[in-house]
Amino acid sequence: MDKSLLSKTAAAMVAAGKGLLAADESSGTAEKRFKSVGVESTEPNRRAYRGLLFSTPGVERFISGVILFDETIRQKAETGVPFPEYLAAKGIIPGIKVDKGAKDLALCPGERVTEGLDGLRERLAEYFKLGARFAKWRAVITIGNGIPTHSCLYANAHALARYAALCQEASIVPIIEPEVLLDGDHTVERCEEVTEATLRATYAALAAYNVSFEHTILKASMVVSGKDCTRQAGADEVAERTVRVLKRTVPAAQPGVVFLSGGQSDLDATAHLNAMAAMKGLPWPLTFSYSRALQNPALKAWRGQTGNVQAAQKAFHHRARMNGLACQGKWKAELEKPSA
Ligand code: 13P
Repeated sequence: MDKSLLSKTAAAMVAAGKGLLAADESSGTAEKRFKSVGVESTEPNRRAYRGLLFSTPGVERFISGVILFDETIRQKAETGVPFPEYLAAKGIIPGIKVDKGAKDLALCPGERVTEGLDGLRERLAEYFKLGARFAKWRAVITIGNGIPTHSCLYANAHALARYAALCQEASIVPIIEPEVLLDGDHTVERCEEVTEATLRATYAALAAYNVSFEHTILKASMVVSGKDCTRQAGADEVAERTVRVLKRTVPAAQPGVVFLSGGQSDLDATAHLNAMAAMKGLPWPLTFSYSRALQNPALKAWRGQTGNVQAAQKAFHHRARMNGLACQGKWKAELEKPSA
């Protein structure tokens, strides 16, 4: 466990004005995203698309690190250089998703637990050699009638803690991601309650497994109204509730908190982050670790055509810049206009 490397990596991940690009969609998710724009999800297409994102000129001003998928960390850029090396040369830290996905949790209908601990120590050692300096593990918590149960929160917290300890042992910074899903008609109050319970369980487990808070990054979901709830909380309310929950549960020793976009619109994800980052006196930097909210316009512009690469890169650069401003509380809606 190289503590100085862990500290250096964690600080660089949340450096001022920068955030993470999540490009670690599993094969199933990549297929869904590609299908939405009429592109077949083949290995060369996935390589071309992710290569387009990574090679966007100037994007390293706003992107500190990229979360890769197992396939991507082994692929090469157009130049023939492996992606991790290519990114590192641009000053972007390569990271890796190491979980094996959420599976049905036994005896808990409607709930899931994330798997992937078996053989993780060996996989982490290989990923470190391939250039990964941080990792991600995502737990999913569903809000519904009578759920989440204590069993679900406990099982996921336990897995996140065991994963985090293995990462730190391998000198890889663990991103701890307990995502409370926005699907459903639950209120924002209910989301706040569940997010708080989830984070409490997570941090209790991290402490129980001796995980060093100084060398972890939290990837949090924002406290938002359920997608189908009739009352949708506005940006200021989302910001206030999210920060309140984080302050109650996340140790100040932690180097930073990044957010997932979780199906929010691109502009909501930016506006919510901006409202939180503009708050004074926060104990940690807050920034983005978005997949959809950074990639949506780029994917739509690309549509699998080489001739659209520049337009796609422009769209990606714009969202990265907007979120780079938002994580400093400097974003304004007017900046979204094409001429701005
Ligand atoms: P979204 O921003 O699309 O939610 O993805 C982030 C992520 O990495 C989910 O694990």
